[in-house]
Amino acid sequence: MKDLTRYARQGILDLKAYVPGKPVEEVQDELGLTEIIKLASNETPLGPSPMAVAAAVQEMQNIHFYPEGPCTWLRRDLARRLAIADDMISFSNGADNIIVLITAAFINQGDEVVIADPSFFGYLTYTKVMGGTPILVDLKNWAHDLATMSEKVGPKTKLVFVCNPNNPTGTIVRKAELDDFVARLPEHVILVLDEAYLEFVSDRDSRDGLDYIKQGRNVISVRTFSKICGLAGLRIGYALAAREFIAALNRVREPFPVSRVAQAAARAALDDQDYRIRVLANNEVGKSYFARAFDRLGLPFAPSQTNFVFVDLQRDSQEVFRALLKMGVIIRPGSIWNCPTCARITIGTPEQNRRFIHALEDCLRTSPRTTGTT
Ligand SMILES: Cc1ncc(COP(=O)(O)O)c(C=O)c1O
Repeated sequence: MKDLTRYARQGILDLKAYVPGKPVEEVQDELGLTEIIKLASNETPLGPSPMAVAAAVQEMQNIHFYPEGPCTWLRRDLARRLAIADDMISFSNGADNIIVLITAAFINQGDEVVIADPSFFGYLTYTKVMGGTPILVDLKNWAHDLATMSEKVGPKTKLVFVCNPNNPTGTIVRKAELDDFVARLPEHVILVLDEAYLEFVSDRDSRDGLDYIKQGRNVISVRTFSKICGLAGLRIGYALAAREFIAALNRVREPFPVSRVAQAAARAALDDQDYRIRVLANNEVGKSYFARAFDRLGLPFAPSQTNFVFVDLQRDSQEVFRALLKMGVIIRPGSIWNCPTCARITIGTPEQNRRFIHALEDCLRTSPRTTGTT
């Protein structure tokens, strides 16, 4: 048996490996079920964009060549849409990897990083890997407590992560509150705005991080093709920021992080507006359906601006998770976020949503209510 403390970097010793939402194949294997719905990883339930699929299939002819490392054509397409220069964008294999690049490029040993809790796992993990010191600030009413986060910013702070909307709660921070927060940040601090779900936001009282970047603020926006564009399996995400920050990310990036197929599919997905409209329409219908169902069942839930809903099941969500699994429904129980009675449910198709709610009603009938966590 190897003693890891002798070999591994200090920062990784108390980390746990990421446990993703349970894959459909694993449940099929374990329980012998065929009809399984996965509402656990905030994927798009409508399948991929047909235009993206066609472009990906065509690009398969060229996979004996390395991809174009800097994603020049894709960057130009996106830059035009966003009305920014193309050297203000860096692509990598998923927003996950963009977060790795940000921490690798900016965190020195001992730098403090202010992070909301619970929020997306990567901020804490990669801060620790890079030798930074995470400063955690509890959410307030399911949302970022920007006032307290602001108080935690000090001379040692290098980065602040704000996930807007937040994963796992789906909440946004208000425009004026975020403006005020950004205005107070000292010059030595970079705000990382993770906007993986930005396209799902319908509340007008919210801010697009690009506004700050265009104003020259120290802000990096993290975005992805995994959610609204339905390309989670191809792994492609990007950062938007001042060109100096982007140049820093490019220094630590792998030479060819985004495959040819992913680049081709992403360019096509940018043009597939019909697909995005369908995804958004399905999401709004599902979100209202969940809201009505949770109200009827007396289960508190966070106001979501995303493609998932965080709900307090008011009993051990791990037990509900296991019971739902037997009925072929996969959800994300809240224990990984230290919210043992809560769960995060991805919005599915109308049929999937109905199946989930019916299965949940069955579970609730047989499982006693305990206290809520929030
Ligand atoms: C808030 C947030 N940021 C980043 C990511 C990572 O996205 P990607 O699939 O592009 O790696 C996710 C994925 O679920 C997310 O929820």
